Amino acid sequence: MNAIWGKKIVLGLSGGIACYKAAELCRLLIKARAHVQVVMTEAAAQFITPVTMQALSNQEVYTSQWDARASNNMAHINLTREADMVLVAPTSADFMAKLLHGQADDLLSLLCLARPMASCPLVLAPAMNREMWLHPATQRNVAQLSSDGAQVLGVAAGDQACGETGDGRMLEPAEIVQELARVFTAPALLGHRVLITAGPTFEAIDPVRGITNRSSGKMGYALASAAWQAGAEVTLVSGPVSLAAPRGVKRVMVESGQEMHEAVTSCAAQHDVFIATAAVADWRVKDVSTQKLKKTKETPSPVLDFIQNPDILASVAQGARAQSREIYCVGFAAETQDLARHAHDKRLSKGVPLMVGNLGPATFGLDDNELLIVDDRGSRTLPRASKDELAQSLVWEIAQRLPSYLKA
Ligand code: C5P
Repeated sequence: MNAIWGKKIVLGLSGGIACYKAAELCRLLIKARAHVQVVMTEAAAQFITPVTMQALSNQEVYTSQWDARASNNMAHINLTREADMVLVAPTSADFMAKLLHGQADDLLSLLCLARPMASCPLVLAPAMNREMWLHPATQRNVAQLSSDGAQVLGVAAGDQACGETGDGRMLEPAEIVQELARVFTAPALLGHRVLITAGPTFEAIDPVRGITNRSSGKMGYALASAAWQAGAEVTLVSGPVSLAAPRGVKRVMVESGQEMHEAVTSCAAQHDVFIATAAVADWRVKDVSTQKLKKTKETPSPVLDFIQNPDILASVAQGARAQSREIYCVGFAAETQDLARHAHDKRLSKGVPLMVGNLGPATFGLDDNELLIVDDRGSRTLPRASKDELAQSLVWEIAQRLPSYLKA
């Protein structure tokens, strides 16, 4: 289950061209199984029609504080008492200024003011022209609204509808959904810094060829997202994959096992959790040719010498022990048989507290998997689920083990 599942979200739209993105946002929230109640200002209805939002949310849309549909005629109360969140996307500069002063002269501003603050967070996704965004008045309003308890999401930089380029674009709908998941996720890793390796490595043979491992990177990327949603600061060292950087995560792209080793070693000491999901190539070619190896009649197949790549996981665990530094290390064991035995042996040989086993052919490239978690108390299966869900469960499992481990 994702963190948004079953949540009651009031999706408010204030006026701005980014209203067109609110349609897609609504669709994504519905897809994540949220209940979405749309409320639009008069200005928002100039940009996109309530008909569109009603069709997408499958709920009647509210646009006026004088709406007589509710028997008590108090839409601002009725719509917020059961709500888990009010999200205003887009939030215009004008709407922010209004909220700041507690003005309540239309339904959306009225319900933002009337919502129970303790149980119903207010999340704002600003969207405006870059000059409007940078104006001291807007920046003052952002700061004040944040200190009043609203969560003001950032803005993206890029081309704007007005033809200018700069900061002020509304975040993409998928990014907003990730931000909301973070709001709804218990901050089990708050205050922790998590380092994750993901994807395969690529070991060059010559400038046009190389060897690699099978790994989509999906599990490592899902873990990076889940750890960020649980409040951690996350660094993701990734081999070559075609996945987008997860929101909120610092990503470092590398190619070879040696590059991954260097990237990890240079920052491991600043982290207190290390999760190694990468399928690092065990060997690299000893003498990488600087020119393309030519296929000739005399030498139809080249003979390659290999040397072992550093074991990144074992070296991080070992390095921390040597310096009496605490870092909770988690390894992944991809096997084809005897999962429990191999995962157990690997946990001991790498000297790490937690090993996560999975059967390679049952997961390569797929969106779901089944995991076996092995620690010093035994093993437990996390049943087949999506990699996103497994990542959330694993983050929770790690968070449970951290206090005693880091204190020990
Ligand atoms: O020894 P094996 O490759 O099966 O171990 C798998 C675990 O060790 C994974 O967590 C993987 O990311 C990590 N590993 C590593 N560096 C290597 C090889 C594996 O960090 N060179």
